[in-house]
Amino acid sequence: MRYGHFDDERREYVITRPDTPLPWINYLGSEAYFGIISNTAGGYSFYRDARLRRLTRYRYNNVPFDLGGRYLYLRDTVSGDFWSPSWQPTRSELEDYECRHGMGYSAISSRHEGIEAETLYFVPVDENLEIWRTRVTNKRDSEAKLSLFSAVEFCLWDAWDDQTNFQRNFSTGQVEVEGSVIYHKTEYRERRDHFAYFACSEPLAGFDTQRDTFLGAYNGWDSPAAVERGESFDSVANGWAPCGSHHVELTLAPGESKEIVFVLGYWENPDEAKFDPPGSQTINKKLVKPVIERYLRSDEAEGAFQRLRDYWSELLGILQVSTPDEHTNRMVNIWNAYQCMVTFNMSRSASFYESGIGRGMGFRDSNQDLLGFVHMVPGRASERILDIAATQLPSGGAYHQYQPLTKRGNDDVGSGFNDDPAWLILGVAAYLKETGDISILDEEVTYDNEPGSESPLYEHLQRSLRYTLHRLGPHELPLIGRADWNDCLNLNCFSTTPGESFQTTENKEGGVAESVFIGGLFVLAAEELAQIAELRGHTDEAKCYRDDGAKMEATVREHGWDGAWFRRAYDYFGDVVGSADNEEGQIFIEPQGMCIIAGIGVDDGKAVQALDSVSDRLATKHGIVLQQPAFSHYYVNLGEISSYPPGYKENAGIFCHTNPWIMIAETIIGRGDAAFDYYQRINPSSREDISELHRCEPYVYPQMIAGKDAPSFGEAKNSWLSGTAAWNFVAASQWILGIRAEYNGLRIDPCLPKDWERFEATRIFRGATYRISVNKPKGVCKGVTQVVVNGTKAEDNLIAPHPAGSEVVVEVTMG
Ligand code: GLC
Ligand code: GLC
Repeated sequence: MRYGHFDDERREYVITRPDTPLPWINYLGSEAYFGIISNTAGGYSFYRDARLRRLTRYRYNNVPFDLGGRYLYLRDTVSGDFWSPSWQPTRSELEDYECRHGMGYSAISSRHEGIEAETLYFVPVDENLEIWRTRVTNKRDSEAKLSLFSAVEFCLWDAWDDQTNFQRNFSTGQVEVEGSVIYHKTEYRERRDHFAYFACSEPLAGFDTQRDTFLGAYNGWDSPAAVERGESFDSVANGWAPCGSHHVELTLAPGESKEIVFVLGYWENPDEAKFDPPGSQTINKKLVKPVIERYLRSDEAEGAFQRLRDYWSELLGILQVSTPDEHTNRMVNIWNAYQCMVTFNMSRSASFYESGIGRGMGFRDSNQDLLGFVHMVPGRASERILDIAATQLPSGGAYHQYQPLTKRGNDDVGSGFNDDPAWLILGVAAYLKETGDISILDEEVTYDNEPGSESPLYEHLQRSLRYTLHRLGPHELPLIGRADWNDCLNLNCFSTTPGESFQTTENKEGGVAESVFIGGLFVLAAEELAQIAELRGHTDEAKCYRDDGAKMEATVREHGWDGAWFRRAYDYFGDVVGSADNEEGQIFIEPQGMCIIAGIGVDDGKAVQALDSVSDRLATKHGIVLQQPAFSHYYVNLGEISSYPPGYKENAGIFCHTNPWIMIAETIIGRGDAAFDYYQRINPSSREDISELHRCEPYVYPQMIAGKDAPSFGEAKNSWLSGTAAWNFVAASQWILGIRAEYNGLRIDPCLPKDWERFEATRIFRGATYRISVNKPKGVCKGVTQVVVNGTKAEDNLIAPHPAGSEVVVEVTMG
């Protein structure tokens, strides 16, 4: 069953009924001002940091689930009937409801009793504000007298404090109202230099800023007192809960439309010019007013919307493909790339499942996210790399997370996740391959943000590799520390106390648990660093890294191979994890993917064997589960993983992040049908028809789909913020379609389903535009036999960079 459809032409998903199984959300904003918006206008806004500068209030895990948002109410003055044109919060009956989620905007429209309303929500590029442009049309054959009310609830900035510190917060709220603009200025009188504003293009019949006056003491958002009676109270908030509501009266002749623009925004004043007149307690509005006035104008709002569309066309234009499969096309061309940009902006901080107050930017997460967006925003990717690297510890280790506003490592979580440093090498490698900009390696970067500790970025990479080498265990495999990629495999922590953190409780100091996964990751990273060393002319050094890699590879073959697949780890006692010898958790997905990507077992049949084992034991119709058999009870020596009921999350859920590793591994051994089949199983677009089961948005990847051991097998959870976005983009574009940036050019090496005959792609790489066509007879999966570049036969399938601005026609023949 579907709840809407894709409109690929307009790059939109069109939701045609409001009662989707879960709120289906979208993101607004591209640089500093961001918002989340659901298909019924739920969600909130913030400036830069979802915890520390939250503009509007949202209550997570509410009842109904999604409440608090960018609400409008229409009221018929004659009948007294009122409704929400976005369905929530009144949930009145609507005709022709439609929500179009697009690239950085959402438009919600509906009709009720002959009155149509359509609202476009978006954040202009380069502005710290959002526009709601509402058009109300009278489709009746008689005049309509209407009231339009807006409503947002302001958050008192720190979203955590806002939901916990009521003894203070109920006494601090302050606002000002001037003309059609409501200013929220809690704490502006003391240390804050910022305020929020909510403006309306029309003269007001009234306003409200005190939530409980607007709603009435016992009413909810579905029946605000002001809306019920058809008249605002003109309340001015003092303490309690400041809100913003405008009341606009409309009289529309039959067929008449009226456009009303609302602007919700964030503003910072210079410290010395906070008040006007100086010495007063009144906000100085001189600087913000021109901005407000500008965007309240319909033509300016329209211009800003067109610029937003152009911004996305440019980003998405860097890779466009045309294949025989519509799901591949729309994910690669539109939604997967878009999701990658959202992970760039949000990391794991703010979705409807990440509260925006819990987590900072992950060290490993951000490096992996980079793989999915570096081609779209290379300049910003380099800034991100330098920010991440500056938090690295002198030992080469890493804080697991850092805070986006301060850019400092997060002490609460600390370090000791021993895979973290290696991902920095992969992130930097991706940047170098995309841009060719090796100067970044000479950038002076601090350790632990300590001034004076700077060394070139290149040395950070060297220390990353050494970090693993200097932490080997009894089998010479890398020590796992608190966890590796799998945060929930906590082998050096034995937790028996409810509520204790599995990851940060280290009660087994000096634990010697080892990770085969990090072994594979090390082999991959060592080869990347060897190639980077060669770029810098250090051939001896490159040889050392290759030797280190080869040694680790031998160790993995010796102690990491179980007979039919790669083992997962050795625990605190030196016992194997992820082996046929175990009762449960015999085979894990992560080392099968990572070891093969690193090239281990590709020559001697182990890779084929491991992938056959994945197919036999882990693959399901909804994707590949993380491990099998699921842990049926809690194993104290394994940590958080077995705390989840079977089939969920890391305990045998389909943890989507890992599936593309298997897709890539399949392409490495040339099995294009298997790679593509796995790609389709978790591709949200190809799961659209089972939306009632999948439940999450059909246009973006979720973190997890319940595995076969779960009662809700096939149900997705935690949409949007997941490394799944980047890795699926990499698997589809670089390995299945086979268009990948390398240090010395663009490699074209597809591995396709047998029955595909051709596909085309346009790729902008280092400023030149490559128009690529790939032809292959039915029956083969892999193997480029001829490449013709601008009419001339090329030596192989690596196309050297062409001058920026040039057009390059590339004709590839396979099989
Ligand atoms: C979450 C974390 C990520 C981790 C994964 C598996 O997605 O953000 O860092 O690798 O879970 O535990
Ligand atoms: C929890 C989640 C896991 C995530 C981790 C991040 O353990 O279950 O998926 O990786 O938190 O800290």
